[in-house]
Amino acid sequence: MNKRTHKKAGIDRDSWRTPNWLYEALDKEFGFDLDPCPFQPNWTPGIHQNGLDLDWNGHRVFCNPPYSNILPWVEKAYASSALTVFLLPSRTDTAWYHILHDHGAEIRHYRKRINFVAPKGIKSSTNNCGSTVAIVRNFPEPTPAPVPQLAVSRKPERIEAISIAQYAGRKQWFLPHAFRHFQNHRCQTLIEPFAGSGVVGLSLLYAGVIDKLVLVEKDERLVCMHEGILNDPTFIDRYADFECTKENVRHLFRTEKTAFRYLVQTRVCNRAKFDGGLRSNLGERLCKEMVIQNIQRARLMRDRITVIHSDALEEMRKRMDNPNVGCFADVPYTSEPGGGGHRLYRHRFAGRERHRQLFSLLSQWRGAWLLTEDNCRTVRRLAHAYRFTFKRVRMNGSENKWKKELMIWRKRTAF
Ligand SMILES: C[S@@+](CC[C@H](N)C(=O)[O-])C[C@H]1O[C@@H](n2cnc3c(N)ncnc32)[C@H](O)[C@@H]1O
Repeated sequence: MNKRTHKKAGIDRDSWRTPNWLYEALDKEFGFDLDPCPFQPNWTPGIHQNGLDLDWNGHRVFCNPPYSNILPWVEKAYASSALTVFLLPSRTDTAWYHILHDHGAEIRHYRKRINFVAPKGIKSSTNNCGSTVAIVRNFPEPTPAPVPQLAVSRKPERIEAISIAQYAGRKQWFLPHAFRHFQNHRCQTLIEPFAGSGVVGLSLLYAGVIDKLVLVEKDERLVCMHEGILNDPTFIDRYADFECTKENVRHLFRTEKTAFRYLVQTRVCNRAKFDGGLRSNLGERLCKEMVIQNIQRARLMRDRITVIHSDALEEMRKRMDNPNVGCFADVPYTSEPGGGGHRLYRHRFAGRERHRQLFSLLSQWRGAWLLTEDNCRTVRRLAHAYRFTFKRVRMNGSENKWKKELMIWRKRTAF
């Protein structure tokens, strides 16, 4: 029956049950342990459990959602660290279908019509709409045991960058290092205390390496930007419609102090400086397609992201005793006079004493952590003094091709 026939007949179209043969076949393949939409004829809020309120994290979910409102269920799957298998109508012109498609869900269209089991008292009839099974793998599959290998150099694993702001000192080039490190030194929540654009944390969250992300930043303009990206539903349309001419950018800078302005600012201003002059080829700087796709991805994860306007060390201290919290710290280059951070950022984390405090805090940190720092003598001495492991890694971003930075960690991650 189609929607109209259902309505005419006064039938609750959300209560048709998955046929056993199909559920069993899928269960055999995926081994479900949660069904947030079990068969509950005439579901009533307040009386029946709302599957959207359940915690899907860590579960293998089977979901045959109410077909009258599918979108929140798809969003929930992407907001959870879970494997979710949906049974859905074949409707490629819907918002939820495009989310599944754009985020790489595995989609299986059934050629044959599936006859659902009708609620009691109603005759089963032939389904006049095709069915689709969509599999959302937002859940890291168990890593297979490592196979002993001969000394062949292995290619680094790939991680997709969730890159939105083009911020000074952005760590996109460092992603493969961070990815490998936090795959080997697991944590549930990651705090990124000098967040900037947050590219490392967002990408690790999207890759399923961590479950939750806390971004801490002292510059209120960046905090405003992150909050707008995650929470303002008009943001994407505005970004898509913005014509990036010099006049429009100058007008935006004169008239607004909004999340939108700060994101545009990161993309059109001089690469090495948030408050720098305008770059050339402004029209190309917004990279609309890539940025919009990444904003959509970040928004789907927003229930698992916390943005805090505060001081890095203060927020780290609150979490240092929790073994499930990891830390990725990308400190501004300011440990030695003349370090780049003096020019680049409004908040500088200046002085050797602040760096020593950071090292001392990390030496007591219970969970996994990784620090990137200026390759200078002060930092190398601190790393030696605290018996941390470090190596120099080449910044292979763009103009910094020949510079090296320090990657610092502690071999022993738990007490
Ligand atoms: C090197 S940048 C981080 C770049 C970031 N990793 C990225 O990929 O975009 C350092 C950031 O730390 C911020 N910052 C400086 N001092 C801080 C403090 N005490 N607490 C929090 N953030 C601070 C700066 O505003 C700057 O955005």
